[in-house]
Amino acid sequence: MGKWTPSGWRAKPARHIPDDYPDPAALAAVEERLRAAAPLVFAGEARQLKQDLAEAAAGRAFLLQGGDCAESFKEFSANGVRDTFRVLLQMAVVLTFAGGRPVIKLGRIAGQFAKPRSSATEVRDGVKLPSYRGDNINAMGFTEKERVPDPDRLLRAYSQSAATLNLLRAFAMGGYAHLSNVHQWTLGFVNRSKAGTRYRDIAGKITEALEFMEACGVTPESAPQLAGTSFYTSHEALLLGYEEAMTRVDSTTGDWYDTSAHFVWIGDRTRQLDGAHVEFCRGIKNPIGIKCGPSMEADELIRLIDILNPDDEAGKITLINRYGADNVGQHLPALVRKVQNEGRNVLWSCDPMHGNTQKTANGFKTRPVSRVLQEVSTFMEILRAEGAWPGGVHFEMTGQDVTECLGGAQEITENDLSSRYHTHCDPRLNGEQALELAFLIAEQLKSHRDGANEAAPSASAS
Ligand code: TRP
Ligand code: MN
Repeated sequence: MGKWTPSGWRAKPARHIPDDYPDPAALAAVEERLRAAAPLVFAGEARQLKQDLAEAAAGRAFLLQGGDCAESFKEFSANGVRDTFRVLLQMAVVLTFAGGRPVIKLGRIAGQFAKPRSSATEVRDGVKLPSYRGDNINAMGFTEKERVPDPDRLLRAYSQSAATLNLLRAFAMGGYAHLSNVHQWTLGFVNRSKAGTRYRDIAGKITEALEFMEACGVTPESAPQLAGTSFYTSHEALLLGYEEAMTRVDSTTGDWYDTSAHFVWIGDRTRQLDGAHVEFCRGIKNPIGIKCGPSMEADELIRLIDILNPDDEAGKITLINRYGADNVGQHLPALVRKVQNEGRNVLWSCDPMHGNTQKTANGFKTRPVSRVLQEVSTFMEILRAEGAWPGGVHFEMTGQDVTECLGGAQEITENDLSSRYHTHCDPRLNGEQALELAFLIAEQLKSHRDGANEAAPSASAS
């Protein structure tokens, strides 16, 4: 591998990056402005996340990654950010309790705008236009004007990301994320949900644990860990011009960090060994995700890991697996075995969303909650059988009460989808469905824990 520079990717073949900006000079000017903009996250934070992920890779923590498929300008609101944050924290409490391990909270938020599309163009009623590629590139409306890539959208995405991060930081440390507070919301859910009785047992035990700690004098005053939490951000490193502009040398270590998010991932469609996305990601010190779909071969994966993590640093690589409930059994075991045999240090995470997308008769892209859960269960069983730790999950969800995924306790049907279908890209779990899934995963984590009874060394929460 040659010397790395933040712009070196420009000499490589780049898929899914728009090359049809009408005014390239205007794009370059915007990138220049971004180069001078304040970093959104700090290198030290990304290092801390990497350490936390190393704990998860070692079986002593669990990763919860989730958020929108694609953020949008129009849907952005402080309440929206708050609601997504709240559901993620509720999920985290349930999973922390059930797994008996700290849960790393990683939002798919504050920068998740650009989308790879299966086709560069979209045809409607005989009219052909460029596809919508995410709010930081063009607009969703089906007119020629709206589909033209507009560089100013990058600045707007940057400022929305900054505002989002500002809210998240305030929510995480400003009292809102107080552990008992979060648990109170969950009790509300348990009382309200049709499937709630099923979760009453776990919720009740958490209540008891909190009361016990309080009786022992462990309060937010004596233990500040209870009053707040750490929360990290992530998105797909797709639009490399933006990522390059946000990449800076960390003054403490002299290393390069992409300061657009703590964690970025490489998509399943842009992970070519000699491609631009891999080239860019190999030079930044942030922890990196690699999406693994059905076409990922075991040898290829090892080569990818070696390019991105030549020193086999713990916590650097998270493999985000997405095959579909019916296919995970066919693909995952070979990858796990290969990585184990070659002795690479990785964290295994399950994205049960992207392989379970289907189209309904009435034309909606949707995902059945039952398939989502099935993929997580099978993932966990496979990892266990191979003697590895199923260390995380990756969800597309929102705190809003949307109707985009089928099923769950609310029993959303195909006919319900049209009532509140708001996504800018893929169907997301709504708040209730997401929390339900957390409870169901919690049951599995707990049964693995009780069944296996393996004594992994415990780590303290931060
Ligand atoms: N600080 C601990 C942690 O993040 C405990 C905690 C406080 C917590 N607030 C929380 C855990 C909200 C989950 C959700 O794990
Ligand atoms: Mn998606």
